[in-house]
Amino acid sequence: MQQQWWHGKTAYQIYPKSFYDSNGDGIGDIKGIIAKLPYLHALGIEILWISPIYKSPFVDNGYDIADYQAIDPTFGTMEDFDELLARAKELGIAIIMDLVVNHCSSEHEWFKRACANPHGEEASYFYFREGVDGHAPNNLRANFGGSVWDKVPGQDNLYYCHFFAKEQPDLNWFNPKLRQKIYQMINWWLDKGVAGFRIDAIMSIGKDPTFPNYTPDALGDGMCACGAMNAQCNDVATRFLQEMQATVFRPRRAFTVGEVFSLQEDNLADFIGDEGNFSTIFDFGPRQCVCNHCAYYAYDKLTIAQYRAALFKSQRQAAHCGFIAPVIENHDEPRGVSCYLPPMWHNAAGAKALGTIIMLLRGIPFIYQGQELGMLNVQFNSIDEFNDLQSVEEYRRCLQHGLSKTEALAVLNAQARDHARTPMPWTGGAQAGFTLGQPWMRLQQDYPQVNVAAQDKDPNSVLQHYRRLVALKKEPSLQQLLTYGSCEEVDTPYEAVICYRRTLDSQILYVAANFGEWDATLHLPGARTMSLSTGKVQLQGDKLHLDPGSSAVIVG
Ligand code: NOJ
Repeated sequence: MQQQWWHGKTAYQIYPKSFYDSNGDGIGDIKGIIAKLPYLHALGIEILWISPIYKSPFVDNGYDIADYQAIDPTFGTMEDFDELLARAKELGIAIIMDLVVNHCSSEHEWFKRACANPHGEEASYFYFREGVDGHAPNNLRANFGGSVWDKVPGQDNLYYCHFFAKEQPDLNWFNPKLRQKIYQMINWWLDKGVAGFRIDAIMSIGKDPTFPNYTPDALGDGMCACGAMNAQCNDVATRFLQEMQATVFRPRRAFTVGEVFSLQEDNLADFIGDEGNFSTIFDFGPRQCVCNHCAYYAYDKLTIAQYRAALFKSQRQAAHCGFIAPVIENHDEPRGVSCYLPPMWHNAAGAKALGTIIMLLRGIPFIYQGQELGMLNVQFNSIDEFNDLQSVEEYRRCLQHGLSKTEALAVLNAQARDHARTPMPWTGGAQAGFTLGQPWMRLQQDYPQVNVAAQDKDPNSVLQHYRRLVALKKEPSLQQLLTYGSCEEVDTPYEAVICYRRTLDSQILYVAANFGEWDATLHLPGARTMSLSTGKVQLQGDKLHLDPGSSAVIVG
């Protein structure tokens, strides 16, 4: 594998609306991020992904972009952004932006011009198609519900395609002119000093431009989820992604992390290998086990054994081709501690033990804001407390499917994206120290106890543990091992223990955590010194005793 500047680094994701508000309008902003750079530096992260801050009508909280080269005034100005880049650079933090180019916003100039002249240049940047027999061109269902087709305003039988909300028209990647415009835009950000991009929903660009009908899926509305088309058109997406790599990213040594679901074992190298489509892709293996049915309300609760199996499946697949990016959660998911751990570990002990496991896996781990505090899911009491368009739509579908309001609320309390979008709790004081105004979204209920100020003072806090984990990865004696060493699952007789071994030449390191109710004793050949632990653990010779809820890192 070729060595790259991002190998061995830890990344952090900011959801800007909820990170830190510097001007009291209740919404996080760029100056707020600048103010908290020392916090991020102390955590030790070296790559910072900022979810979209571009000009947007915010139908999908910024994932609907109206101008790719402008900062939305809600977040500040381009000068603020330049300052952020410069200050981050001084601290050794590389900034990556969100690249949302499967679709733009219906407020983007391109789409406005396309609608004004459906036979003009900009119309060819989108998928405009005639309806068939008075119906939409085909039966694909959008990710946020309804048909992927809506009528072009003012037209009787002309539709445009959107795999997400109707305000997010899909861009036609088959058009080389459009691709050139996208590459120019990317280069413009790279020229500014951005180090790379997280690439949004990008497999959705793999389309069959003839838009055939698909066999209806189990949802029973005669439609088929649009992902079915993408799954059949991976090669189309790869063709475009390879061009983008060769044209803009590889020559600039830019780091890219793809939002890619449903990888096949036999083509992972095409995605993360030296010549792959991306530098890395997120590991969504566990999340996909939760959501493995086509209905949102039909999710599975994983056992630790199932969670473990998903983690190591991804690790095995990536072992010979490149790095994946281990994650516990992001802005599209419930909090990982609430989602993956049994209720008895929905606490600091569980959060620390899960952090130990995920942060030291082989790959480029991403911490999502608040994860380093052990934040849990929100207890939502009413549908009115939700902000996300997906939550609102899925609630409607739950009711339509026959669930009661209480049952529908329970589904959202397990699955909603809003869990991760509450303001970051900086203090236990008013509005969790996030804003001097009224926060745009409700606070997570535990903020009086779970906040940065409190955890900063407590040597046993989740935050301090995360700081130690990130620091461990940088220790000169372990850096090569933790970056390039192999990662193999260690079998144990315990259902709820996760254990693995990192090895490089003669170096060995074990990582273990016990999410069960009972003590566990593991035999770890070659284990010698404990370098980190949480909870009650003991190393006697090469035997490791783990109390319930504890974790350890042992070097040989
Ligand atoms: C994935 C993003 O993470 C999510 O927040 C967004 O709604 C969709 N892509 C559409 O851009």
